[in-house]
Amino acid sequence: MTASEKIALVPGICADPFFADCAAVFEEYAGKAFGVGYCRKETEGGIVLKRDPALPEEGYRLTVAEGGVTLLAAEKKGMHNGLADLLDRIEKDGDSLLAAPCDLTESPDCPWRGLMVDLARQWHPLPYLLQYVDLCWKNRASRLQLHFTDFQSFTLPMKAFPKLATEGRSYTPEEIGTLVDYAESRGIVLVPEVDVPGHTSQFFAKYPEIFGTAGVLPASDEVFDALRTIFSEVADMFPHSPWIHIGGDEAAIGEWEKCGRTKAYMKEHGIADIHEMYAEYIRIVTDMVLSLGRTPIVWEGFRKEYDDRIDKRTVVVAWESFYQLAPDLAEAGFTLINCSWKPLYIVTGRVSWSPEEIASLDPWQWDHWMASSPAKDRGIRIDRKYPVLGEQICAWGDVIAGWENWEDGIKLEMQLVAERLPALCGKLWDLGF
Ligand code: ACM
Repeated sequence: MTASEKIALVPGICADPFFADCAAVFEEYAGKAFGVGYCRKETEGGIVLKRDPALPEEGYRLTVAEGGVTLLAAEKKGMHNGLADLLDRIEKDGDSLLAAPCDLTESPDCPWRGLMVDLARQWHPLPYLLQYVDLCWKNRASRLQLHFTDFQSFTLPMKAFPKLATEGRSYTPEEIGTLVDYAESRGIVLVPEVDVPGHTSQFFAKYPEIFGTAGVLPASDEVFDALRTIFSEVADMFPHSPWIHIGGDEAAIGEWEKCGRTKAYMKEHGIADIHEMYAEYIRIVTDMVLSLGRTPIVWEGFRKEYDDRIDKRTVVVAWESFYQLAPDLAEAGFTLINCSWKPLYIVTGRVSWSPEEIASLDPWQWDHWMASSPAKDRGIRIDRKYPVLGEQICAWGDVIAGWENWEDGIKLEMQLVAERLPALCGKLWDLGF
């Protein structure tokens, strides 16, 4: 299509009051992309945003025609998706803004078009988090999981346990508020993660009297009370987040054999061994999250013989195809998110897979490169009748955490994500079957 066949757009935007904040966000991004200021009134050739309750929550209808652009949506998330699509279609030609004519009605096939960023191994100052929200918006991603805690740091502010926040690499309450408002005004759902009972050295470094004695959080009423307080603070900090991720990966549960408090707890509750204790831990913490009115998410980790004791509202992230395989989790009744190591993991500076490999993964399929995974070489596939919400790219900071210039590390991470997120979101938007 030549430039003359495209429609010349006028930088005006007129929104139903329900979509006023969507219009403001579009103005901001369009201003940055094209150096053009959008006026906020009905303008011949401009953009009109209207409400159409018949469209699905994330859907929109976009019409670009002589006379202007009309964008219809039922909900703000649908309008944000439509505006991101529109922004992508606009090009600048001299002083003109052009877009090809179209009339399309869109909605995504998969609700979970996710990105996870590891904030605990590599400290990310707030402006980088806001840029990740921008990246999600531009790609019509829907969820941004934030891995706030791990061995290296605990990056959330806590009122009841103030020493937990790692000095010099934790967010202030005001920064979390800014992040929450920024994501909410862009329709991006934040998924906060506090990883327990493993990856918790910060807990026992700062409060050994409560969390100490082992390389994994002990099982004890005192620890569970503390975790109830911590997750309740997380829920308060992230009021718009329907999901809270409790971690649950790679816990060094062998340490419980040496932990008097955990052994006493197991005896008191008739728990036979550490694998049952681990499943019980996940049950207790996921129940805490449910009692806060949020849906718990957990990394794949508990054994299948204990599936019955975990509430089936829990969403399981199948990532390593090692502890329990997706077919068993699905058959047990869990809803899944696909984070197949290959091709969805990025360990910046060490490993990542191409956008093409990401685009060709089916959400009901797991591929792996880890030698001990049963998915290695042959992959794992489950029937499409099972609920898989979608997929998520996970950007880990293990390697860049060791780099002298941390900003170079984050910039490389952001570049790797920016190259891959379009492939993930594009595919999950329209699976083509
Ligand atoms: C993980 O990669 N440890 C979830």
